[in-house]
Amino acid sequence: MRMTEPLPYDFSSGNTNPETYPGEALAEAAARVIPELATALNTYPGKLGHEGLRRLLAARESAREGVEVDPDHIVLTNGSMQGVTLVAETFCEGTGDRVVLEELTYNGTIEAYRALGIEMVGVPVDGSGMRTDRLAGILDEMAREGRPPRFIYTLATYQNPTGAMMPPARRAELLACAKRHGCLVVEDNCYGDVHYDGEKPPALYAMDDWPEQVHIGSLSKIFAPGVRLGYVLARPPLLDRILARRHDAGPNTLSAAITTEYLGPDLWGHVERANAALKAKRDAMLAALEAHLGNWCSWSRPVGGLFIWVRLPDGLDTEALAARAAEHGVGFRPGSEYHVAGKDIPYIRLAFGFPDVATIEAGIARLGECIREAMVPA
Ligand SMILES: Cc1ncc(COP(=O)(O)O)c(C=O)c1O
Repeated sequence: MRMTEPLPYDFSSGNTNPETYPGEALAEAAARVIPELATALNTYPGKLGHEGLRRLLAARESAREGVEVDPDHIVLTNGSMQGVTLVAETFCEGTGDRVVLEELTYNGTIEAYRALGIEMVGVPVDGSGMRTDRLAGILDEMAREGRPPRFIYTLATYQNPTGAMMPPARRAELLACAKRHGCLVVEDNCYGDVHYDGEKPPALYAMDDWPEQVHIGSLSKIFAPGVRLGYVLARPPLLDRILARRHDAGPNTLSAAITTEYLGPDLWGHVERANAALKAKRDAMLAALEAHLGNWCSWSRPVGGLFIWVRLPDGLDTEALAARAAEHGVGFRPGSEYHVAGKDIPYIRLAFGFPDVATIEAGIARLGECIREAMVPA
């Protein structure tokens, strides 16, 4: 089988920064903790998973949100993606069930929910995330049809792909709409602490102790996606329903134990170092966009997360641009992959977490050339 060569200027995936990978400290943490795992590794982890990591994650949530989080309400998962799928498997009963979500959202969720036969009902988004004025009408209409959604799935913080941050007033409105309709809210906060500028609004569950809420978190973006550690935070009885749907014998104890040993003493120090490096990359990409695409495109200026959402000039064929860019070694994701209905939209998503600053500068210059060539035929 012929493998596809990786592109030298690859801005397609939400990978994180290899330059802040704490190789030595992680190796030392592994050497310290592995000899102590005789019992833990010779027994199954149970449905909640490694207690030390759950305590650390409860402390992370409490520190960020200023509310008490019970470690026994945290379910460790194989990345947050397992959480995204698990909640749908738990709360949707069969093909044709509906979920309301941002019209532009994470492509992994779109693919997983499509595969589960879920009908996705998109709510328009703007620079402040899901338009709650439109959400209200959509929920009313679904209630009139007698087919309400099983839940609302939202990326309120550092929205993927747009980078939008939902302000507190809109968060409150989203919760009010959900409560009015008795509808479960699932907040996917995968980018949790990947934060660069300004105030962090509270998570939805921290704004209101209404019990019909599930919060999904991850260590992928503040630490490393390869450790495959995410979590679902929910209170009983929702928690019990989620656990009843779990059939994978539990999460990876080795990964959890090493990660806890490394991150436990200095979680926020690690986050600060990672964010400083990522912020420099975001700024490098924004500057390169200004220099090379300034006359042609506009783009988001995200305060967190790993992506810039670029509006292409009218009339540009995104597929043709992707092919031309790939010939020049540049990769990105077309906007249509993030549209719940797969609509062809004049946007692309650029990820800046993994490539180094020199690669970002050279790659965006090449992308600029590709766009200029496409707009001004020879
Ligand atoms: C919004 C969102 N949710 C979930 C995931 C899955 O991440 P992981 O399974 O690595 O935690 C991603 C990954 O990019 C994402 O962007």
